[in-house]
Amino acid sequence: MTTSCWGVVVAAGRGERFGGNRPKALIELAGTPLVVHAVRSLRAGGCMGIVVAAAADLVSVMADRLRESGVTGAALVPDPVVVVAGGSTRQRSVSAALEAVPDDVRWVLIHDAARPLAPTSVVRAVRSALSGGAAAVVPVVAVVDTIKSVAPDGLITATVDRSGLRRAQTPQGFERAVLIRALEMSSRSGHELTDDAAAVAALDIPILTVPGDERSLKITTPADLVIAEALLTRSPS
Ligand code: CTP
Ligand code: MG
Repeated sequence: MTTSCWGVVVAAGRGERFGGNRPKALIELAGTPLVVHAVRSLRAGGCMGIVVAAAADLVSVMADRLRESGVTGAALVPDPVVVVAGGSTRQRSVSAALEAVPDDVRWVLIHDAARPLAPTSVVRAVRSALSGGAAAVVPVVAVVDTIKSVAPDGLITATVDRSGLRRAQTPQGFERAVLIRALEMSSRSGHELTDDAAAVAALDIPILTVPGDERSLKITTPADLVIAEALLTRSPS
């Protein structure tokens, strides 16, 4: 059985919370589009090939940006970076990208284009947990704020014990066949999920966590980009 690992970068979102007129994955951090940072992280972490899911009307633009950045192109064969059309939800984008992953690939790492600073050490930790036998792996970080439950009228109903809570990051790693089965089941159920591990959890498959990294923040609003610029200047990963 092959032991190869491919990466999927989901970059087909609209970036509505970020605002502006440019798709979020093409916004530049230190002069380089977010999607290129994300692809570089997966490549540095040892993914053999990468599929990028882009908005249907941006497939060729994104392929051009990736080629210009040097992360794809003839020189890198047999380490292809393929761009495909994503879907109307993150989950559909993941499913579309998985169709372009060769059948003999055993593991896939699913990564948000919106997380440009995932350190190589985190990518490697996810891969090594997969090689160690886990079928599903999620990098997590601690919750540092005090967490409140709030009723619709705005009143606090409880303070939630945060000691057992973690924030999930990407790349999340899976046995390819397990993830495909989980996403098929989830799409039949009609529930919209914000990460892939939630789909796998419905199959009752144990999901291992590994330490994530605070630097691997998700760019959601313009303020996040300012933080990412500062992090990149201070501690390039
Ligand atoms: N994503 C995707 N396809 C979608 C929706 C999201 O590939 N239909 C990707 C985004 O491009 C992003 C990742 O999923 O890299 C995480 O999503 P999020 O941060 O929510 O990005 P957007 O959906 O683009 O932002 P917003 O929700 O503010 O519109
Ligand atoms: Mg979104």
